Amino acid sequence: MTHPPICDYEGSDYQQRFWEQGGRAYEDGAEAVALRHLLPPQGGDLLLEIGAGAGRNTPRYRNYRRVVLLDYSRTQLRQAQERLGRSDRYIYVAADAYNMPFVDGLFDGATIIRVLHHMAEPLAVLQETRRVMRREGIFILEFASKRNLKAILRWLLRRQAWSPFTPEPVEFAPLNYDFHPRQVQAWLAEAGFTVENIRTVSHFRIGLLKRLVPARVLIALDALAQPTGRWWQLTPSVFVRARAQGLPEAAPDGVFFRCPSCGRALPETRPDLLACPHCGARWAIRDGIYDFKEPM
Ligand SMILES: C[S@@+](CC[C@H](N)C(=O)[O-])C[C@H]1O[C@@H](n2cnc3c(N)ncnc32)[C@H](O)[C@@H]1O
Repeated sequence: MTHPPICDYEGSDYQQRFWEQGGRAYEDGAEAVALRHLLPPQGGDLLLEIGAGAGRNTPRYRNYRRVVLLDYSRTQLRQAQERLGRSDRYIYVAADAYNMPFVDGLFDGATIIRVLHHMAEPLAVLQETRRVMRREGIFILEFASKRNLKAILRWLLRRQAWSPFTPEPVEFAPLNYDFHPRQVQAWLAEAGFTVENIRTVSHFRIGLLKRLVPARVLIALDALAQPTGRWWQLTPSVFVRARAQGLPEAAPDGVFFRCPSCGRALPETRPDLLACPHCGARWAIRDGIYDFKEPM
């Protein structure tokens, strides 16, 4: 199989442009509310944040003992490092979500927030997420929904050719997809997850409203509306809490990384690189970032 294309954020100023200068305090706050309600209150041991970017959401995982930030972009991880610092609590990993450098059953928690919409093969990423999680682990997934009110209205007014009600993804810009909520739930089931809760997010993502109403008011209103996601989903963003079922179970103690080239466990013997004793591939550790983008 040829590798699906990757939406590479290397060198991107996404965090500053989209979040800090992009007038998205409402969306950011609404996501914080959704995470607060969906994350298990008792927390956990080891959380994997897939497509962590510059670590915008990472401080919200405070109930987990350690967090692995995985992203394809080294520069996004550098920004995350600047924001969060270097400590044993955070592990920075540059790698591909389709082929993650971890042994089976390692994590008791995982999140994918604002990342699935870049995936040409979303089921493959969800299956890979299940592989690295242990049975009963909690997975929080955010996805962009094609069945949102604006798309429905545009379709009814014939301003948009694609139907918001059909299950296939819509690629509205290169490597940017909106998905149908029922299709995402079917993929989650196929990947080995059961859905426990759904919250709809960003009910009021309308330019005029955002200009007229303070963000904190919109966030409070969104918080009231989010639980309706259990019954219907008509927002542009949907959050799902799912639980990992079946195999794999938990990884044995003492193993963590696996070689992305040959898929076998990778011992940590040196501070500057990981050398695979099976296939010989060598992976750099630079300035606190494990680099699995390509072998040395
Ligand atoms: C829109 S940003 C979201 C960042 C962060 N989750 C947030 O919500 O602020 C998408 C991130 O997904 C990463 N990404 C895209 N494709 C990836 C892949 N195949 N493997 C790992 N990361 C990927 C990008 O590098 C980028 O940092």
